[in-house]
Amino acid sequence: MEKTRVLFVCLGNICRSPLAEGVLRHLAAGTSRGLDMVVDSAGTGGWHQGKAPDARSIRLASSFGIDISGLRARKIEPRDFHDFDLILAMDRGNLRDLSRLSPSEGRAELHLFMDFATGQARDVPDPYDGDEAAFEAVYAMLLEGCGKMLDRLAAPDRSNSGKTSSVT
Ligand code: 4NP
Repeated sequence: MEKTRVLFVCLGNICRSPLAEGVLRHLAAGTSRGLDMVVDSAGTGGWHQGKAPDARSIRLASSFGIDISGLRARKIEPRDFHDFDLILAMDRGNLRDLSRLSPSEGRAELHLFMDFATGQARDVPDPYDGDEAAFEAVYAMLLEGCGKMLDRLAAPDRSNSGKTSSVT
């Protein structure tokens, strides 16, 4: 079976989406099927391109045995809308920006991450100006969402169409 290609997207690609990338990889690698997906992350903005994730995300991930220090921020590109099956936005603002940036012939499905993963349309809030607790809250949401997402992708019927709200 083809690997499912998943791209997490936030604003800067230094706090939430690299953490999501690390958490999903980590959880997927621990399943019986191993890492049978391609996981990446990007930002809708390019201010931090080439930079490592925020030190707070690196530290938090590391405390759970996940190393995201080697990731580097990048801005989403038009080809991502062809190359990925699923593009998952951390918050509704990111989702709006993605739908604006999406080429008309793009084939990726765009979803709000927590909506896709749990069926509840919750934002993963931007922790950039927050404290450690804000990052911990983000991590808890990502852990819940990525766990549920793996269950969903492992289900026999992996067709996603019409099961969740798409871009709104
Ligand atoms: P992220 O957080 O979107 O989760 O990576 C942010 C990182 C940087 C900025 C905003 C949010 N910024 O304004 O530079």
